[in-house]
Amino acid sequence: MHAETSIPVSADAVAHSQRVSAFLQLQIENAGGWIPFSQWMHHALYAPGLGYYAAGSTKLAERPDVLARAPAGDFVTAPQLTSLFGYTLANQVAEILRQTGTLNVLEFGAGSGALAQDLLTALDTLGIRVQYQILEVSADLKARQKQLLAPWQGQVSWLDDRPAAFAGCVVANEVLDAMPAELFAWSHDHQVMQRGVRWDGRQFQWQDRPAAQVALALAQAAAARMPALPGYQSEINLQAEAWVRDLGTWLTHGAALLIDYGFPRHEFYHPQRHRGTMMCHIQHRAHDDAFLVPGLQDITTHVDFTAIADAALAGGMNVLGYTSQARFLINAGLPGQLERLTGQDARQTAQTQAAVHKLVSEAEMGELFKVMMIGRDVDPPLLGFAQGDRRGSL
Ligand SMILES: C[S@@+](CC[C@H](N)C(=O)[O-])C[C@H]1O[C@@H](n2cnc3c(N)ncnc32)[C@H](O)[C@@H]1O
Repeated sequence: MHAETSIPVSADAVAHSQRVSAFLQLQIENAGGWIPFSQWMHHALYAPGLGYYAAGSTKLAERPDVLARAPAGDFVTAPQLTSLFGYTLANQVAEILRQTGTLNVLEFGAGSGALAQDLLTALDTLGIRVQYQILEVSADLKARQKQLLAPWQGQVSWLDDRPAAFAGCVVANEVLDAMPAELFAWSHDHQVMQRGVRWDGRQFQWQDRPAAQVALALAQAAAARMPALPGYQSEINLQAEAWVRDLGTWLTHGAALLIDYGFPRHEFYHPQRHRGTMMCHIQHRAHDDAFLVPGLQDITTHVDFTAIADAALAGGMNVLGYTSQARFLINAGLPGQLERLTGQDARQTAQTQAAVHKLVSEAEMGELFKVMMIGRDVDPPLLGFAQGDRRGSL
């Protein structure tokens, strides 16, 4: 049991977290006593063999019992909830493949491999035999994906780096939120402060430094994107924006389907959201203490979809559609997928219904999660955005 949180953590897990903590202390020491939060988040999540995504914890719950009180893992994502999510996405992927005349799908950050499995299954049913590539930064998750996707050998392959050129459909579900973000705070004298981490010999502590001296891009972005509200804290995900701009250099023809929790800029930097959106997830509990049990918990920030749209335009791509997850799934054919419930027993039907409710309910994932498509030489309107396209809100 972890004393401060009453989150039950095994002795092995505590020992692992201590190793991650020692590694983070070393990074801070090597950098002269302070690192920006983005670096902290990067190491805590991705340090080889240590970080949350790079070591062997369960992380994503396997097809959790949605009706149970204590599912395994730390959080659930849409593909983990029900196959109907991937089966529905397949209709949108198929439309992009038809428009580009290709059979290429490239998934970033495939987690357990569940979405790949469901997309491959549904596309197969549609008579589309795709070449499915995965780019996954976590060696641990890559091993899990290889196990799950063994039956698709020959159709699935893994990349170590993004391709030099790609035509087809790119998919990234909950990947932008897992990219390390910069944290900033407006000081009382209207300066943008970069939030960073120091070690006081006993624990990690927040320490803010004027961003103009060390992180000019952050200072300029914060000043351009929101009014100076003294004490206001939030995030800017420069890495996610760079990832999108870079996509514009190698996506020669096609579109990327980006699904994540987030908002347009005016909602992201709403005056009432003065503590930002950074969240940690452990054993299905959410909190905002990034320094708790390093390596044992996920750390995420919400997505500023206006920044993603701007980055797409800067990368020479178009924004092809933007809407809520609920609207996207309904447009893309989720209601038709429910026919698959026939033949399930009563418990399975209740499970699937509960999962679908979670996907589309405004109080759950339906409204907080958004879907954006960006790309090149693809003609809207696209299936998933046929009704309720909110590009005007960005
Ligand atoms: C929250 S998990 C989502 C997993 C999966 N897409 C799902 O929906 O279940 C984030 C995933 O993104 C991966 N990831 C993070 N940054 C990445 C990057 N720059 N390129 C590829 N994968 C990345 C992580 O290793 C992890 O697999």
